[in-house]
Amino acid sequence: MKPVNVGMLGLGTVGAGVANILERNADVITRRAGREIRITRVAARHLDRPRSCRLEGFQLTTDPFEVVDDPEVEIVVELIGGYEPARELVLRALDNGKHVVTANKALIALHGNEIFARARETGVTVAFEAAVAGGIPIIKAIREALTGNRVEWLAGIINGTANYILTEMFYEGREFGEVLAEAQRLGYAEADPSFDVEGIDAAHKLTILASIAFGIPLQYDKVHIEGIDHITREDVAWAQELGFRIKHLGLAFHVENGYTLRVHPALLPVRHMLANVDGVMNAVMVKGDAVGPTMYYGAGAGAEPTASAVVADMVDVVREFNLEPENRVPYLAFHSHALSKGVVLPMHEVETAYYLRLFARDEPGVLADVTRVLGDRGISIEAVIQKQPEPGVDHIPVILLTHKVREGQMDAAIEQLENLERIDGRIVRIRVENLE
Ligand code: HSE
Repeated sequence: MKPVNVGMLGLGTVGAGVANILERNADVITRRAGREIRITRVAARHLDRPRSCRLEGFQLTTDPFEVVDDPEVEIVVELIGGYEPARELVLRALDNGKHVVTANKALIALHGNEIFARARETGVTVAFEAAVAGGIPIIKAIREALTGNRVEWLAGIINGTANYILTEMFYEGREFGEVLAEAQRLGYAEADPSFDVEGIDAAHKLTILASIAFGIPLQYDKVHIEGIDHITREDVAWAQELGFRIKHLGLAFHVENGYTLRVHPALLPVRHMLANVDGVMNAVMVKGDAVGPTMYYGAGAGAEPTASAVVADMVDVVREFNLEPENRVPYLAFHSHALSKGVVLPMHEVETAYYLRLFARDEPGVLADVTRVLGDRGISIEAVIQKQPEPGVDHIPVILLTHKVREGQMDAAIEQLENLERIDGRIVRIRVENLE
């Protein structure tokens, strides 16, 4: 049978990975897809850069529109990332009747609703497994394998760079900035690493996972987002003294009156499986009412792990070439007309336990002031650690672990505590999750 021609936008780390896998595993991929899949056109910004793949057989161009307009190309693989011109290129490819495979989480999280609608109109398909957790087939698992379940919650370590930084802080006591620079050198971090450390990249991925799990529209703007840039190596050590590890999590819960979508650092019990996902690895736990908790683990970034998901999407697209759009697996697991509204609750309604870190003047009665403020608001304390003052410093670090309370209550308590004369500076809060 005639080979399938692929046009690729971008020939960076992942693009080279895709080219290498298609060449190395051509025999098994053809046997699975039913047709040979070959890259014919490639757009890259710089044609003279050294590449970690062979370029034989590729027609190269610096103009990505040449690729999406090429009548011989049947599948466009978008690997340039970012919002624009990726959005314009993908929409044009769909208008030209080409199927699209993308690894672009920002694009799907923010413009997925528009892109899927366009694909339905033009009768082609969009596949995006590589957009979430790199090589872990998490979209396929939730969309196709857990369809008998009501998903109750999901929780994931879905940014490898943030996980790498927290892991190095935990095991080696290293400083945040130094580890971030290393993650950039190793090629894990986004082009703009603030996306990794401020939680934006994880929020893009969580948006996609939550929609697929709950059958709600993509709502990136409703995700509460916090990064890890305020976490110190002391927090990491003090959390450990209390029996916890700090991880950067994406969390989506189906609660009584809606959904909560949030990305933030959290303390997890040291023995929890997610607490033991180290380095650049990703993992997602999904709790279904029928199956119970399930966990998916693997490499969330890197050339071949991400390319593994891209190639799997290409195979799926080829297998479904002749299906009518209404017979394909729905993009968000639920048919578009069956998506529910998905009310996302504001953060002040979320209920969790807290780790609080504050600096108090080393005088009698200060701790009593703190516990009175919390007690007056019905916040009960589970543990307190008071550290030794540094020589010459009159404020000592105090760490408190609270029971569960609504975020709105905690906001008010923190504001009151920060106004106490004998408390210095801002109070750091990190939420505690048990994920049982
Ligand atoms: N910068 C991302 C990460 C790459 O660190 O996980 C994969 O999306």
